[in-house]
Amino acid sequence: WEGLEGAELGQAFRFFPEVDSTQNAARRWFDDGAPHGAVVLAERQTAGRGRMGRQWVSPPGTGLWMSVILTDGLRLADVHALSLMAGLAVAEALEAFGYRPGLKWPNDVLLAGKKVAGVLIEGQGELDRLYFAVVGIGLNVRLPEAFPPELRTIATALAEHGPPPPRRKLAAAILSALDRELRAYRAEGFGPLRERWLVRAVSLGREIAVETGGGRIVGRFAGLDDDGKLLVETAAGLRAIASGEVRL
Ligand code: BTN
Repeated sequence: WEGLEGAELGQAFRFFPEVDSTQNAARRWFDDGAPHGAVVLAERQTAGRGRMGRQWVSPPGTGLWMSVILTDGLRLADVHALSLMAGLAVAEALEAFGYRPGLKWPNDVLLAGKKVAGVLIEGQGELDRLYFAVVGIGLNVRLPEAFPPELRTIATALAEHGPPPPRRKLAAAILSALDRELRAYRAEGFGPLRERWLVRAVSLGREIAVETGGGRIVGRFAGLDDDGKLLVETAAGLRAIASGEVRL
């Protein structure tokens, strides 16, 4: 790795030409004693998964499929912050290569309004102890030939916006940004992280719709509360949303 000297992430890593999901490989490695910050990368996932039970299409040569194992210095209550941090880290890494990404709550990274990367956080903990979290990051580098046409209107890849950097450079930049965000969060708490997230947020102050388990909420995207919940100003007042799917 370039630029990861002294970092807590990426000091151990495993690469798989093919794996079911880097999330599963990370979990197996955790059970087998993976150190904090260990990273799993795959060329191809046969059962890549996204948020909300969705499938994540991950053919070879088209993207960066990576999972980071965190075991130290986090509480269960930090998972929401971690979720924002991971998307922010991808955005910051892309900015270092000259892209102008936007963020969509909780952790989608957009280029020109279309999704280029997504984050999936899984883990286990109880009360205020987090045993481990696996931060899964999927970044589309080029769209596969067989990419479903209906997804082309909502998804994009780096290659659609200029020649993409090599994946190992992208991986190192993302890990280094996430490393920096984790340290900053421990030192400064949620406030500064929220500011860095919000300046990159797409549609702040504008009308959005959020599909939640309890139904659709429509209103003005007003910001994030102290727990990282989405704040939406509706006709019936301010709502704080813990989980859901935002439509811009
Ligand atoms: C989403 O936006 O729904 C999250 C997508 C996360 C995809 C990544 S690819 C690496 C890791 N392994 C998986 O199976 N999923 C995550």
